[in-house]
Amino acid sequence: MKGIILAGGSGTRLAPSTHGVNKHLLAVYDKPMIYYPLSVLMLGGIRDILIISTADDIPRFQKVLGDGSAFGIRLHYMEQADPNGIPEAFILAEDFIGYDDVTLILGDNIFYGQGFTSLFRKALKNHQHATIFGSRVKDPERFGVIAFDDNQKVISLEEKPEDPKSDFAAAGLYIYDYRAVQIAKQLPYSGRGETEITDLNREYLKWHQLEVQLLGRGFAWMDAGTHEALFEAAEFVKITQQRQGFKIACLEEIAYYMGYISRETLRQKGESMKKTDYGQYLIEIANRKHTEQYWETIDKNPILELVQNE
Ligand code: G1P
Repeated sequence: MKGIILAGGSGTRLAPSTHGVNKHLLAVYDKPMIYYPLSVLMLGGIRDILIISTADDIPRFQKVLGDGSAFGIRLHYMEQADPNGIPEAFILAEDFIGYDDVTLILGDNIFYGQGFTSLFRKALKNHQHATIFGSRVKDPERFGVIAFDDNQKVISLEEKPEDPKSDFAAAGLYIYDYRAVQIAKQLPYSGRGETEITDLNREYLKWHQLEVQLLGRGFAWMDAGTHEALFEAAEFVKITQQRQGFKIACLEEIAYYMGYISRETLRQKGESMKKTDYGQYLIEIANRKHTEQYWETIDKNPILELVQNE
C-alpha cells in the first residue's frame, strides 16, 4: 500500500496567512497541519508516502519532515505545477504507485476518534477496489455528497450539490487500486476548472466497486481550509489534548509505539524541543518505565491496541 498526501494549492481561502507559507505548514494548535494527515497514514501502517506540493513549497516540507527517517517512514516529494484537481495526484504519482494499492489523504483533513485506527486498518485490509469514508455534516453542500438507499447501498455521489440528497459528506481519505491512475487520466474538467475526485468515485460506483465506511457519531472529522475551520480545529486539538494528556498526531509517539524508532531517539527528539510542551511529552513517554502497565490503566490507547492486535 502506498500513501499520498496532497498538500499543494495556493491557499487562497487562508490569505493573507498563506502569502509566505503553504497552508499545510500552518500550525493547528501545537504542530504543523500536515502532521495530522501524516499521522493517519502512519497509524494505518503505511510507510511509503508521497507528498505532492508546489515547487516553491517542497523544500519547506523537506525542512520539516526530511526524508521521513526520523519517523521511521520513507517520504518522497513531487511537484504539482497547477492545482488541477485531486485526481491529478494519481497521474503525477503513476510511477510511485505502480501496481500497488494507494491511499490518498488531503493535507488539510483531520481525523480523530476512538477506534479510528482499527476502523482504518480494517478498511485497508478488506479493501478491494475503492473505499471512501462518509461522515455526517451540517453543511453537505460544501462537500462531495453520498446518498444511500434504505439498505445503506450508495445510490449517488455528487460534488457540492445545491440541493444535497443526504447529510453524508465524503471525507478527504480514499483507498484505491492502481486503476485509479488510468481513470484519473480520463476525467472531464468540472465547472471549477478541475477534475473531481467525486467523478473518479462515480466510475467505481458504476462498476459496483465502491465501498463506503461511515464514521459514526462522536467522531471528529475536520478540514482546516478556512480561518474559521482552522481556528476550530486548533481549539478542538487543544481541548482534547489538555483534557486527556495525550497528544493528537504526535508523529514521534506513533513511530515509537509502532516500533519504528528507539526510546533513545524519542528522548533525543524530545530534548531538542524541550522548551515546548511537545518536547516534554516525548521525554515523558521515553522515560516511562512500565509502558504496558501504564496503558492498561487507561482505556484502550489506539496505538497500543493496534500493536497488540498485530
Ligand atoms: C474536496 C472534494 C470533496 C470532499 C472534500 C473533503 O473538496 O472535492 O468531494 O468532500 O474535499 O474535504 P474541496 O476541498 O476541493 O472543496
